Amino acid sequence: MQKVRAPKGTKDILGEEIRIWHFLEETVRETARCFSYQEIRTPVFEHTELFQRSVGEATDIVQKEMYTFLDKSGRSLTLRPEGTAAVVRAYVEHGFHVKKPRVKWYYLGPMFRYERPQAGRMRQFHQFGFEAIGFAGPGADLEIILIAWFICQRLGLPQLSLEINSLGCPECKGKYLDELIKFLQEHSQELCVTCRERAQRNPLRVLDCKNEGCQRVFSNPDFPVIQNFLCEKCAEHQRRVEEGLRKLQVPFQVNPRLVRGLDYYTRTAFEVKSGELGAQNAVMGGGRYDGLADFLGVKGVAGVGFAAGMERLVLLLSDKKSVFEEKGPLVYLAPLSPSAESQCLRLALKLADLHVPFYLGEAERSLRAQLKEAQNAGIRFVVLLGEDEEQRGIFSLKDLDRGIQEGYSEEELLSFLERERRKCCVHTPVES
Ligand code: HAM
Repeated sequence: MQKVRAPKGTKDILGEEIRIWHFLEETVRETARCFSYQEIRTPVFEHTELFQRSVGEATDIVQKEMYTFLDKSGRSLTLRPEGTAAVVRAYVEHGFHVKKPRVKWYYLGPMFRYERPQAGRMRQFHQFGFEAIGFAGPGADLEIILIAWFICQRLGLPQLSLEINSLGCPECKGKYLDELIKFLQEHSQELCVTCRERAQRNPLRVLDCKNEGCQRVFSNPDFPVIQNFLCEKCAEHQRRVEEGLRKLQVPFQVNPRLVRGLDYYTRTAFEVKSGELGAQNAVMGGGRYDGLADFLGVKGVAGVGFAAGMERLVLLLSDKKSVFEEKGPLVYLAPLSPSAESQCLRLALKLADLHVPFYLGEAERSLRAQLKEAQNAGIRFVVLLGEDEEQRGIFSLKDLDRGIQEGYSEEELLSFLERERRKCCVHTPVES
C-alpha cells in the first residue's frame, strides 16, 4: 500500500528543530511584550474577497497562489496567504477605528501560498508579524523597522541587510506608474516574456526580475525611479525615516527597485535579506499601508507593519549551528511499586506547581531500567520511591552526577529541587 505522506510544500516540525522554533517564538513574544504589542489571532481562512481587494487582484498571490475553495454553502473562502489584511479587517470589524484608533498588534501563525516549493519556500509556512495601526508619522515606521532589526540581533543574525524604499502615496505612485509603463513599452523587445506580460498586468513587479536582459533595461540611465516622483510630503516622510535610521545606527541601503509583492503599500517599504539563503533571501518584509482599510469602507486609517518568514529564520539559525540548549527534565520520578505510582503523581503535581520539569517513570519497569532511562535522557536527579521509602515516609534522591543517594522529607525534597531549577535557564542560544 502506498504510504500517505505530508502534502508537497508542507512539513512536520519536530525533534531538535522544535528547540529553534521555541527560541524564535519566545524571542518574538518577549520583544512584543517590551514594545507593548498585544497578540491578535485571526482565523486561518477568510472570505476570498478580502485578499482580492487588499493584496490586489493583479498580484501573483491573488492570481496564482491562493488556496481558495467553496464551503458547503457555496461561499468562496481562502486560506490566508498573509496576515495584514485580516488584522486590518479585525480592526474595522471590531470598531477600533471609532473606539481606539491606535493599536499595536502582533501575530504568529501558519500562512498558505501555492508556490513552487524549494529551500525556504513552502506552501504552508509560518510568519510572525507586527502591525501599528492608526499611526501616521514616520516614528511608527522607525519603530516597526527597529523591532524587525532588534529581533534579528536578538536571534544572533547580525549579518543581515536592510533595504528600504518609498512607494509614495497613490498620487506619486500613479505618476510613476505612467512613466514606468511608457518606458517598459518602449523597451518591450528587450524584456523577458514574463516581464512583457507583467508590464501589462502589474508593471511594478517587473522591477523584481533577475533576467539579464531585463537587468540591462533597469540600468539604463533613463529608467524611471520612484524617488524622482515623490510629492513633497512623501519625500519628507522618507527623509525622516532615513534620518532616524542613521541616528539609531541601523545600517540600511535605499533600493529604488524594492516594490514588494502586495499592492497595499504606500510610502515606506522595506525588506531584511540574508546572503546565506540563495534565491529565497528575504527573511522579513513590510511597510506602510495607509488606506488599506479603504477597501473595508473606512477611510483615512494609517498603518505600518512587517512580517517575517519563520522557516527562513529557522534555516539561518540551524545553518549557524547555534546550540539551543533547552533543559530537559531536572528529575526522574521512579515509582517502584503500584502504590508508589500515585505518590509519585502527587509529587509530580507539586513539582509542576514549582515549575520543576520532571519525567514520570512506570512502576512496571525495574529500578535498573528506570535508572538507565534517566541516564540516557541526561537527567541528573532520580527520585526513588519503593516500599521501604513509603514505610519511612521519605523519598530517596539519587544524584547521578555525583553518584550519591540520600533520604529527604517531601518538604526538603521540593525545596532542594526548586533551588536546582533556579540554577538552570530554559533556552540559551550558545554560539558554537
Ligand atoms: P511578504 O513579503 O509577502 O509580506 O511575506 C513576509 C515574509 O514571509 C517574507 O519575507 C518571507 O520571509 C516569508 N514568506 C513569504 N512567502 C513564503 C513562502 N512561500 N515560504 C516561506 N516563507 C515565505 C507579507 O506577507 C506582508 N503581510 C508583510 C507586512 C506586514 N506588511 C505590512 N505588515
